[in-house]
Amino acid sequence: MVDMHCHILPEMDDGARSRRMAFEMCKMAVANGVTDMIATPHMLDLYANDEFEEKRSIRLEYMNRLMKEYEIPLTIHGGAEVFASKDILYSPDLKPYTLAGSRYLLFEFDFAEATLNYAKEVASVILSQDLIPVLAHPERYRFTLSDYSAINRLAECGVLFQCNLGSLTGELGKKESVLAREMVNSGAASFLATDAHRLEYRNTDINGMVDAVRQYKKKVNLNNINTLLNDNPMKIIRGERVENPRFPLLKKKLF
Ligand SMILES: [Fe+2]
Repeated sequence: MVDMHCHILPEMDDGARSRRMAFEMCKMAVANGVTDMIATPHMLDLYANDEFEEKRSIRLEYMNRLMKEYEIPLTIHGGAEVFASKDILYSPDLKPYTLAGSRYLLFEFDFAEATLNYAKEVASVILSQDLIPVLAHPERYRFTLSDYSAINRLAECGVLFQCNLGSLTGELGKKESVLAREMVNSGAASFLATDAHRLEYRNTDINGMVDAVRQYKKKVNLNNINTLLNDNPMKIIRGERVENPRFPLLKKKLF
């Protein structure tokens, strides 16, 4: 299995607090059947790219060395979760931040401030560099939560979506769980990942999360779970193409 969105690198962002925590998070991932992880530290300042790349490469090398030393069968690939501030509109070179050296770029917005128009503008900048935009946790933004069809509009532009596994059980909020479920059930989501930051909660316990989803009172269609958790993320790592999904118009249900 692959965890394609994980804040595993120690003392890099608000993820793993220490080397010890990062190590334990890796062990937990492997115990859950994860063989490959893409480290996606927050990339917040596109003008501080040298510093980011240097820090990331030191930590990646350290963690992979540790895995070898302790014979833990986990490969950690480089990546980033690029925060789409206005700087991104000036087209800095985004290639260094793609997932595992692929053409896929994981990006996120300010939860409250992003709008559909802004999201489309950002997607077009990413596409103009011959990269493929993958929106991280689309279920967490105000503009998608207030109008689900924003997901369809972004998909029409070529955006793919990675939902957080934890969102499906309401760990990140009730509204978020409704949209995440809708996206998985309709086929709008192409990827699921932990977005793990810690060991105790928001962690790398994938099986625990999948079990919690199975027991969740609201039904989530798990037929495609292997595609979302393994096959599609593995395609990214292998440099293969992930098909753009076709899915119906998403409508917000009124309660
Ligand atoms: Fe994240």
